[in-house]
Amino acid sequence: MHARAVAASTTALLGTAALLFPVSPARAAGAGASPVVIAHRGASAYAPENTLAAVDKAAELGIRWVENDVQRTRDGELVVLHDDNLRRTTDVEEVFPGRAPWKVKDFTAAEIARLDAGSWFGPAYAGARVPTLEQFVHRVEHHHQKLLLEIKNPELYPGIERQTLKVLSNEGWLDRSHLAGRLIVQSFSADSVRTVHELKPGVKTGFLGTPPVSDLLDYAGFADQINPSHGSLSPAYVASVQAFDGPHGRPMEVFTWTVDDAATAQRVAGYGVDGIITNKPDVVRKAVRG
Ligand code: G3P
Ligand code: CA
Repeated sequence: MHARAVAASTTALLGTAALLFPVSPARAAGAGASPVVIAHRGASAYAPENTLAAVDKAAELGIRWVENDVQRTRDGELVVLHDDNLRRTTDVEEVFPGRAPWKVKDFTAAEIARLDAGSWFGPAYAGARVPTLEQFVHRVEHHHQKLLLEIKNPELYPGIERQTLKVLSNEGWLDRSHLAGRLIVQSFSADSVRTVHELKPGVKTGFLGTPPVSDLLDYAGFADQINPSHGSLSPAYVASVQAFDGPHGRPMEVFTWTVDDAATAQRVAGYGVDGIITNKPDVVRKAVRG
């Protein structure tokens, strides 16, 4: 049986959800349409990653989608940071010299709020802070942007999926308009993605990785997207993913990462990907839209 027919049989009862989710802009526009461009950790080639300044920079460039990484502090606050420790992107070693290895999970939100998360990138950004998830979504909302939220290292933070959804709900990000096209939650952990889907089936989800084609039917039960590194992509793989319907009865999509040069952007666009995640969204946009 055709992959789509098999997967669709498992989602036949989700007709309302299917109506809620439009097909990706690239797919809706037909073959040859350009993929969505997503600012990776904000426009992180031009402003310190995962800060509000990086969100602002993406907005300034006219980029609608922003990606981020969510983790949890010792006292249970969700913050936006990529690494599991604070060394690379803050001045934590100077402010708290005796606290090696400076893990996010070992610091309170108040302690993290004291750190400078901008000077490492450049003096113009001195004083930028590690944002809470709440602050981050406020800023994305302020710019009328869309959010590709990554739950990072979920194995370190039991229950982070439920907590993330609670923050999103409190901030108004689980209403119909956000669910319909402004929010995707992704993770490298299939268990985490499945948990998000089970807790809030209306949320669009993505799995980060390149599962074998033989496993895609399973993923289609809980992930709307398969989001691989661009180095692991082929046209056949993209077509295989898109042949399945995801949990909302729409073809699964492919957002690939992290593409920062025009030639690679044009190559993966030629494969038919639905989205390109990039630190240089202006470069990629120009490459794929001419
Ligand atoms: O969104 C894709 C990408 O962010 C995954 O890798 O390590 O940059 O979080 P990483
Ligand atoms: Ca990420």
